Amino acid sequence: MRRMIAVFALLFPCISFANTGELPLTPANNDLRDRASLQAGAKTFVNYCMGCHSAEYSRYQRVADDLGIPEEVLKKNLMFAGDKVGETMSIAMSKKDGQRWFGVIPPDLSVISRARGVDWLYTYLTSFYLDSSRPWGVNNLMFKDVGMPHVLWEQQGWQKPVFEKVTDAEGHSHEVLKGVALVDEKDAKKAADYRQTVRNLVNFLEYVGEPAKTVRQDLGWKVILFLAIFFVFAYALKKEYWADIPH
Ligand code: HEC
Repeated sequence: MRRMIAVFALLFPCISFANTGELPLTPANNDLRDRASLQAGAKTFVNYCMGCHSAEYSRYQRVADDLGIPEEVLKKNLMFAGDKVGETMSIAMSKKDGQRWFGVIPPDLSVISRARGVDWLYTYLTSFYLDSSRPWGVNNLMFKDVGMPHVLWEQQGWQKPVFEKVTDAEGHSHEVLKGVALVDEKDAKKAADYRQTVRNLVNFLEYVGEPAKTVRQDLGWKVILFLAIFFVFAYALKKEYWADIPH
């Protein structure tokens, strides 16, 4: 029995605990079935992220087909001039340049949603804050000393860090980073729209991480339904077989 439990524990899909810090994650609440959201996310991704990040495992054509984007719109709004629809979402920046410009190579984002989880991504993209000690002038609650600039700052408005004073067991007090707040309260409306933009973007990144996820889920329900119906017949058959056997 114990061995069986151990085997089950091993087989069980690993639940990712990507958040190693103590700061809580904000739920992304994205919806993979919301096509308009996925399309908006694709647009943001191509226009704001693909300057540095690729999605090498995705092809433009597949994305357009899955998300219902017409070919003219795909060519006009989502693709760089010269790319062909059947190509993967690769970028022009070489790894060497990435290393030279940013000190780290901006990673391919094809499976980032699976590595980090959507809530982490959502929280990451909404928690850049001003930090003049950093090369890009920003830091991030989820990714200390991040090498990425806050590329969407114009859509969100700047945020500042919020510290809290805590006193340790020895009576020393420290400032601890607790969260972020808008520098200018007038940006509140903009920041709310930005959260929706990020929700769409994270939705798209989740789709890219597993394009057939909704198909898989739908199939799962069909399989369960089939098994339920099959069970009725199998049970009836079993009763029939055993009917004449004394027991
Ligand atoms: C100007 C270049 C640049 C742009 C544009 C950019 N990034 Fe980045 N990004 C980076 C770099 C560099 C890193 C690596 C940071 C590090 O390791 O310190 C990074 C890291 C990340 C990470 C963390 C990856 C990890 O290791 O977990 C995510 C997620 C991410 N970027 C998402 C995005 C998204 C989404 C966009 C579009 C809104 C975007 N980036 C736009 C340069 C960029």
